[in-house]
Amino acid sequence: MSGAAFSGSNVGSSASEMPPMVRPPQPTPSAQPGPSPRDEHPVTQPIPFERPTAERATATTLDIQDPAPLGATGRPMPVFPEPIPLTRHGGARVVSMCNQKGGVGKTTTTINLGASLAEFGRKVLLVDFDPQGSLSVGLGLNPHEMDLTIYNLLMDREVEIDDVVVPSGIEGMDLLPSNIDLSAAEVQLVHEVAREQTLQRVLAPALEKYDVILIDCQPSLGLLTVNALTASDGVIVPLECEYFALRGVALLKTTIDKVRERLNPKLEIDGVLGTMFDGRTLHSREVMERLVSAWGDTVFHTVIRRTVKFSDATVAGEPITSYASSSTGADHYRQLAKEVLTRWPAE
Ligand SMILES: Nc1ncnc2c1ncn2[C@@H]1O[C@H](COP(=O)(O)OP(=O)(O)O)[C@@H](O)[C@H]1O
Ligand SMILES: [Mg+2]
Repeated sequence: MSGAAFSGSNVGSSASEMPPMVRPPQPTPSAQPGPSPRDEHPVTQPIPFERPTAERATATTLDIQDPAPLGATGRPMPVFPEPIPLTRHGGARVVSMCNQKGGVGKTTTTINLGASLAEFGRKVLLVDFDPQGSLSVGLGLNPHEMDLTIYNLLMDREVEIDDVVVPSGIEGMDLLPSNIDLSAAEVQLVHEVAREQTLQRVLAPALEKYDVILIDCQPSLGLLTVNALTASDGVIVPLECEYFALRGVALLKTTIDKVRERLNPKLEIDGVLGTMFDGRTLHSREVMERLVSAWGDTVFHTVIRRTVKFSDATVAGEPITSYASSSTGADHYRQLAKEVLTRWPAE
């Protein structure tokens, strides 16, 4: 198979998969406020994201208060159960944070969802799979002082995963660091046998140790991202709550579908996460409404609001859950952790 198959330049990378955002609202049922059941989508076609295992989403019955307060997505906000402590670890679920657009919150979500899951007693491995190394830097590592990185793990069969994993500074959470060296892997992997499965192969020994492995993808749909998707059980798509965020989503969906068809049949979309939401602006609320009318329950109820605390935490080199433990940003990621645990299969 050709790696070029995944570069998919012919697929709609414009916002054509979504209706144009114009005021006044379009004369469609989706313009109505309030919850819209996922199977009533007369408005937008195609519907890009449909979680394939619909029955899993309902595996955990969620409490809805009566009357239920509306969440930031405009739907009634369920109460997510407190995660049950685990008695043993292993059988990790591997999840990629994926969006070929930069600056949408992939790295922030990897760090803070990981740290929140660790707070709930999960053993977490974060994989920095972006040559920019923002995840490693965001956890306080110096990119010039790394002995071994994921690049060595991918390219050198002598190197084992335990040689490369470092503690993240957060109890229960480890990190596979990366730096600019990884950019060479993209070129070198092209000549490897089973080049799309390389990450899957090197992560395999970690599955029995961790409960969750989160892969922070680079902002592209190239071979590294295809490797991440091939190694994953699920994908979380962070989307900034602004109009242009919707561009390119069809191409991302096509890539995920191709990987599922050709390389990894178990791959599913765990959810679409609205980030940098500003409830004071009509614009943010409109984008959110649009996401929900197109993708229904694939959109997480949890929405991450915009706050400068995230940049401050990055400078401090730690997750917001420890840097500003009682901030709303930290609470939102803890809530996201509870929500993803209701979506994932029972541990
Ligand atoms: N909810 C948020 N509110 C405000 N700033 C945020 C939020 N999430 C992320 N950021 C900031 O936006 C920038 C891009 O986020 P990042 O997670 O690095 O995106 P990506 O990994 O998709 O490129 C970073 O400076 C980060 O601190
Ligand atoms: Mg990033």
